[in-house]
Amino acid sequence: MEIAAFEVRKDEEALFSQASSQFGCTIRCFEEILTPQNARKAEGCSAVTTLGRSVFDRKLLECLHHMGIRCVATRTVGYDHIRLPEAKRLGIQVCNSGYGPEGVADYTVMMILLCLRNYKQALWRAQVNDYSLYGLQGRELKDLTVGIVGPGHIGRAVIKNLSGFGCRILTCSSHRDPEIQRFAKYRDLDGLYRESDVISFHLPLNDDTHHMVNRESLAKMKDGVVLINTARGELMDIRALEWGIESQKIGALAMDVIEGERGIYHEDKRCDIIKNKDMAYLRQFPNVVMTQHLAFYTDAAVQSMVMQSIEGLVQMASGLPCRTRLV
Ligand code: COI
Repeated sequence: MEIAAFEVRKDEEALFSQASSQFGCTIRCFEEILTPQNARKAEGCSAVTTLGRSVFDRKLLECLHHMGIRCVATRTVGYDHIRLPEAKRLGIQVCNSGYGPEGVADYTVMMILLCLRNYKQALWRAQVNDYSLYGLQGRELKDLTVGIVGPGHIGRAVIKNLSGFGCRILTCSSHRDPEIQRFAKYRDLDGLYRESDVISFHLPLNDDTHHMVNRESLAKMKDGVVLINTARGELMDIRALEWGIESQKIGALAMDVIEGERGIYHEDKRCDIIKNKDMAYLRQFPNVVMTQHLAFYTDAAVQSMVMQSIEGLVQMASGLPCRTRLV
């Protein structure tokens, strides 16, 4: 079986050759994003794998179908860049990759602490030999209530991490999990918004979650609330975030992801004109921490992303059960 892998980074190359021997397949690696224009590079392959920057819309899926490709694996947990109903219609099987939640969960705690200790300002000042303390007084987690929206794999891992900090933890779900109840109290979403000093979002992006943080939901939160997003940028309406920061409704904001990041994050844009004005505007605030979608990026996660994607493709192509299959 021959597989074309796109969006391959240098740090994935050795893992692809390991996967190729382990799963008995040939893998052609390409650095670029997969588009209908370069799909020809996968000619003769029966499967493709990409990360999250290749957009599997109708055009790309039809093009792959036309080339005889029937299996797609995204080396990501999220799959909002793939039109699953379209893939299903064309008879293209799709799977994603899983990796442990710990990397993103640890990063989330780091972002919470960065906000609570005003670390962005402290770091900026030290760069210019300003060692003053003015404005840097922080808050301690033990005095605060943290709301975790979305107690899935990552949300649960964040809850467990936070349980060591002595804060009050809230979460919301229609399903009561006794293990989580050891560490967190359940509230409905409005109750979580009302009572939390810090709110972290761990949900997939779909029609229900798109812009769930907006002017209306912000109004339900405490004044000065700290918001954390390590999930998907589009969960938060960027204009509402700007209003929240300007009006100080939001006390601090940490985002590893941002609405409109596609085509910018994971690329070297030093010599380019970046057109996302909201991104530039938000970045300059002392109480806004922004990183380039790298919470996932650990050695353990990268290994799992490559191995699971190839394993999934081999299983789907051989008609074997594949636990990460989406359609
Ligand atoms: C995912 O796995 O869903 C991620 O967010 C990481 C990816 C975009 C590289």
